Amino acid sequence: MRQKRYFVTGAASGLGLELLRELAARGHHVIATGRRTAAALPADFPDLPYLSCDLAQPDQARAAGEWARGQGSLDAAILNAAAGFYRPLHVETAAEMAAVLRLNLDANMILAQMLCPVLQGGRLGLIGSVAHRGAPGMPVYAASKGALDGFGRALAEEWRGKVTVRVLHPGPVATGMSERAGRARNALDRLFLPPRAMALALIAALEARNGADRQVIAHRRVAQVALQARLGLGGRR
Ligand SMILES: NC(=O)c1ccc[n+]([C@@H]2O[C@H](COP(=O)([O-])OP(=O)(O)OC[C@H]3O[C@@H](n4cnc5c(N)ncnc54)[C@H](OP(=O)(O)O)[C@@H]3O)[C@@H](O)[C@H]2O)c1
Repeated sequence: MRQKRYFVTGAASGLGLELLRELAARGHHVIATGRRTAAALPADFPDLPYLSCDLAQPDQARAAGEWARGQGSLDAAILNAAAGFYRPLHVETAAEMAAVLRLNLDANMILAQMLCPVLQGGRLGLIGSVAHRGAPGMPVYAASKGALDGFGRALAEEWRGKVTVRVLHPGPVATGMSERAGRARNALDRLFLPPRAMALALIAALEARNGADRQVIAHRRVAQVALQARLGLGGRR
């Protein structure tokens, strides 16, 4: 398999870390950003170029774009960093709502715009959420992912033939994001997907030769990719 050059955001933990680990294990060259400092990375974090930045700050999002662009051409970028909160609209402050939108939407638009020259012929994966359809208890997060969906689909059209853009909407994943967002655990947590299995399915969806601009990656898709991997049938479709 040809060694590719990947850029991943939100790569210090959760799904981003699983994506990064898998891509590095496949021998790809990965550059990554995360919010935490290099000193706070997990002990087994792969040895690769890493930039610590707060993508909710537009100047830092632009600095991350400059940094990534300065590393040379990319085969793919996976814009994964995001945050959200389980809370009703009436308790949100204007500052909190704006911060979620800056991270989940604005930073991705800034990065996509800045990375366009180094992504020519490559792929852009925007990590959305099934919440883009509307998620009770998370109106602001749902709005950010709904907007990202619209942005990604428009960009897929605009960049067709130059950069393949896919908006990938994961179902629930057991990264702890949901608890950190303030949602109490309940019986449905049993259905949350393992982060590594989701990471494999997201990589497969981004790399597949053919695929829709917008895809929901949930249980059936994850199981399909896991089965293909077990049978040694992975690879581009
Ligand atoms: N978990 C789910 O059930 C689920 C479902 C559907 C979609 N998704 C989507 O999947 C993606 C990954 O989610 P996850 O479950 O892995 O969540 P997570 O474990 O909370 O990870 C989120 C990542 O984003 C980074 N991040 C948060 N705020 C940031 C900021 N201001 N600037 C830069 N980086 C920041 C975090 O860095 P630190 O660790 O350093 O804070 C972390 O690496 C997100 O786009 C999320 O919306 C998740």
